Amino acid sequence: MNKLIRVVDLYKSYYDELTELPVLRGIDLEVKRAETIAIVGTSGVGKSTLLHLLGGLDRPTKGKIFYEGEDIFALNDPELDRFRNEEIGFVFQFHHLLPESTALENVAMPGLIARQKSDVAQHRAKELLDYVGLGERLEHRPSELSGGERQRVAIARALINHPKVVLADEPTGNLDQKTSEAVHDLLWTLNDQFSQTFIIVTHNQTLAQRADRLIQLVDGQVSDQVDSLDF
Ligand SMILES: Nc1ncnc2c1ncn2[C@@H]1O[C@H](COP(=O)(O)OP(=O)(O)OP(=O)(O)O)[C@@H](O)[C@H]1O
Ligand SMILES: [Mg+2]
Repeated sequence: MNKLIRVVDLYKSYYDELTELPVLRGIDLEVKRAETIAIVGTSGVGKSTLLHLLGGLDRPTKGKIFYEGEDIFALNDPELDRFRNEEIGFVFQFHHLLPESTALENVAMPGLIARQKSDVAQHRAKELLDYVGLGERLEHRPSELSGGERQRVAIARALINHPKVVLADEPTGNLDQKTSEAVHDLLWTLNDQFSQTFIIVTHNQTLAQRADRLIQLVDGQVSDQVDSLDF
């Protein structure tokens, strides 16, 4: 089955006591296995909101998301937690690494949560850190790593459970151009070599143009036209 994700008529509003803030207003989207998709749009349009829903980090106001035909919001909370941990790799804008843990421990952590044996998780964590060029930094804590190195640790961590898809929220948002390009190259290499599906929110035009597909959010919906000046 080539189709990995199907988003159907997805709505998300945030509420305070008095008002509704509608953010996503009827998103329809299909993602194929091994596809790379860039999500662009102006600040506040709802890109992170959409990514969080795709990652099962939050529930929609209305609408459905299917992974390989399974309606993820029909799962109860513990099932959704398990789904998120085992099937989704999430790369946050500011890496969200555990400050007291080493690079190796940070990468191994989701594997341990998914009940991999400790030696198996450690072995795979080391392999992944080697792969992202940090084989010499296994024992470094996040504060002892550069911004680009932290982002590469976060990418390695996102891959430990062989996720169906990696969701990345501005993975190079706080990096300089050269370091950003190194992180982009890594993402594309992972896509090429492992057919890993990526959905990447980005303001970076170079990264966005390299994706198989560019999706622009405008007024809570997927726009038919992509306006390159608008992100
Ligand atoms: N938890 C929340 N409660 C209330 N409003 C929220 C919440 N999270 C986001 N919003 C609002 O929803 C809108 C969309 O936010 P979102 O973070 O998805 O935007 P974005 O497209 O990722 O923006 P940026 O490019 O700045 O990261 C914004 O107006 C924001 O203020
Ligand atoms: Mg955002």
